[in-house]
Amino acid sequence: MNFSTHAAAILALCERAYAAFGLTSTNAKFIIDTDGGLVFKVNKSNGDITSLKHNGVEYQGTGKASAINFGLGTSTVTGETVNGYVEIKVKASGLPVTQYYVAKPKEPTIYMATYITKEIDPGELRWLARLRTSELPTGVHGNVGDTRGCTAFEGKDTFKCPDDRFIDEKIHCVSGSKVQVCMIMPGTAHESSASGPFMRDINSQTGSSDQELYWYMNSGYVRTEKWRFGLQGPYAMTFASAGTKPSEDLDTSFFSSPNIQGYVAASGRGTVTGTATGVPNGFETVVHWFNTNAQYWTKASDGKFTSPLMKPRSYSMRLYKGEFLVANETVTVAAGQTATKDIASKELDAPVIWRIGEFDGRPSELKNGDRIERMHPSDTRISSWSGAYTVGQSKASDFSMALWSKQGTAATVIFTLTQEQVKGHVLRIGTTLSFKRGRPSVMVNNWTGADPGAPALIDTPGVTRGAVPSSAFKVGSNTLTVGVYGSGDSTWLSANYIVDALELQD
Ligand SMILES: *[C@@H]1O[C@H](CO)[C@@H](O)[C@H](O)[C@H]1NC(C)=O
Ligand SMILES: *[C@@H]1O[C@H](CO)[C@@H](O)[C@H](O)[C@H]1NC(C)=O
Ligand SMILES: *[C@@H]1O[C@H](CO)[C@@H](O)[C@H](O)[C@H]1NC(C)=O
Repeated sequence: MNFSTHAAAILALCERAYAAFGLTSTNAKFIIDTDGGLVFKVNKSNGDITSLKHNGVEYQGTGKASAINFGLGTSTVTGETVNGYVEIKVKASGLPVTQYYVAKPKEPTIYMATYITKEIDPGELRWLARLRTSELPTGVHGNVGDTRGCTAFEGKDTFKCPDDRFIDEKIHCVSGSKVQVCMIMPGTAHESSASGPFMRDINSQTGSSDQELYWYMNSGYVRTEKWRFGLQGPYAMTFASAGTKPSEDLDTSFFSSPNIQGYVAASGRGTVTGTATGVPNGFETVVHWFNTNAQYWTKASDGKFTSPLMKPRSYSMRLYKGEFLVANETVTVAAGQTATKDIASKELDAPVIWRIGEFDGRPSELKNGDRIERMHPSDTRISSWSGAYTVGQSKASDFSMALWSKQGTAATVIFTLTQEQVKGHVLRIGTTLSFKRGRPSVMVNNWTGADPGAPALIDTPGVTRGAVPSSAFKVGSNTLTVGVYGSGDSTWLSANYIVDALELQD
């Protein structure tokens, strides 16, 4: 070995040593080398992540740090190596929050969990990574949520583009030419979040300098139940090569370390199995369990289900046809045990004269239902919010998925009745969400239905059933007019509701 190769060998050894897995502490920060390509830094005074270097490239944005919400402020930040994992604990001084960052050797991943004991101002709890748009220009759904070059319509919510439902969301990534950075919500990561399997909120937002990557544990946007407290997650942020799909199934069992508050290991959990019947073919069969502490869900297949590993206690249990509630039960879960509980749809499938759309809790098949999740209602790509529906001629996609008191016109349904059909009928209108107390107003020819009253709360999709007297109908062509009770501010902020489906029962 000549001198220069010897020196190179020593240098290589030094670099290897420098790149080893572990925790380095300076006055101002902790430096965590995952030995998997990712080195990240945590500010010791507030727990902010101030650097995210992957294979030598800095991905942390230049303006603000990555943190829970807008940062936890003054905190007690401790770091140690426990059983071969690096654990950083950030205990906020002024907020009821403790944030954990955990690194596992050889993985370019920051495992996280968030312990909360109270609701936090401003009524939202989210992990917010502020990355560099220059390195990661593509958001979770391409240009959806891209705020560059846009003008605000009415406040910041214009850019709040609701994203994947909790039940479908296990991973979402922002990407660039070298890497993608992904949030992973494995297993029961949503168990302490609020609002059930169909909850959704923003996943990413692209600005000119920062690519913001989110994981919303608790959202203030269309919240349907109270916050849950305790440990949120574990969840993770990982770096992966561009074009690959990192595994969604992370093993987070090492969170059972005594230092992490609120983690319940698999051995302290139980499951529920059973049959879920009565949901017609073509609809997802969703089973949901919840109490004030925890929430879980699964999709049944061939009428059978097994729940995720749940924390012991009694639960409300619901069955949905798509997102439409069709049965309730209760069940008790005990640690180490499997409870058996069957659930069957109680939906009455009445014969109908006509039905528009399907009662599945989602407006997807109605007009603009395929676009609204990705576009603002004023988007020029969206079809008009008006339109008449003629039974026997029109398609479900001719009937508007939302009705506004100050936008578009009332929806009309034109249908023909025979002499025998001129009698009293039940009109059933399913609605999902409503805003500013918007609810359906109904006219059949000259007859006006009573105001059904404002919806009590945003909850699972609702149904308004009304009896229409025989005197309202006539032989031949009839016109049903569906409008909106309620007012509100102008145009897009006027009272409105989302239509799931409607039917005239025979
Ligand atoms: C860490 O946070 C403190 C308090 O906000 C701040 O003054 C300091 O500049 C931060 N350090 C780094 C390296 O970002
Ligand atoms: C479920 O229970 C709620 C009250 O807890 C009730 O209003 C609703 O009608 C029930 N729905 C079904 C489909 O059983
Ligand atoms: C009822 O509606 C018909 C048209 O369908 C109209 O000619 C008639 O004037 C209306 N009657 C009343 C009392 O409003």
